[in-house]
Amino acid sequence: MSAAVVLAVDGTAACGKGTLARLLARHYGFAHLDSGALYRLVALGVIEANGDPSDEGDAVKAARAIDPSRTADSRIRSDVVGRAASQVAALPAVRDTLFDYQRQFAKHPPGDAAGAVIDGRDIGTVIAPDATAKLFVDARSEIRARRRWLELQALGINRDEEAVLAELNIRDAADRNRPISPLKQAVDAALLDTSDLGIDAAFAAALSLLDHKVKAALAVRHRG
Ligand code: CDP
Repeated sequence: MSAAVVLAVDGTAACGKGTLARLLARHYGFAHLDSGALYRLVALGVIEANGDPSDEGDAVKAARAIDPSRTADSRIRSDVVGRAASQVAALPAVRDTLFDYQRQFAKHPPGDAAGAVIDGRDIGTVIAPDATAKLFVDARSEIRARRRWLELQALGINRDEEAVLAELNIRDAADRNRPISPLKQAVDAALLDTSDLGIDAAFAAALSLLDHKVKAALAVRHRG
């Protein structure tokens, strides 16, 4: 059997990449990994231990202790944890600690799935540079802030929409400008702007960008 099919879905904060990745995984029967949730779990671990998210010792200790199956924990979705996630994610030793898990997920998707969909910031550039197909998702920042504000509301977290927008802009700037694994579009990634697209239209657009590559890779896999 030849290599697993890998879809890399990178993009800015709250651009909709997580929802798209989940829908793509369901459509193809692939496994899904929300890599941002790994950094969020590390951040939560540091916060719960009263540590400092920018301290390498504290962050690496938390990174070694995370349980990657706990990504459904709603506590990791707060904006406080998001900010701390961006801080721990800038530390090379934290990224090294999480690297093997992500790489293995791509190579051997759990449940014997034929493929993996991984969303994050550096999937197409660092974790899976040879991915079958790559998407870079973005949307205007006011629209992303509105979506994130609604998500936080649904979690019972009340925030000023302006503050959410400011927070997203700060986090994107930090993610883009860090020296290691910065947020950036891989040269071979297709750009998808979801600003004016509802989720169904965004999913249809993603499929039209990726589907031919996925089908070709699955055909090779079945022949192999
Ligand atoms: O959901 P949202 O887009 O706000 O963020 P996320 O995907 O959960 O990621 C939280 C933070 O983790 C980001 O701001 C990045 O700093 C970091 N991250 C990363 O560095 N590399 C990844 N592959 C995924 C997330």
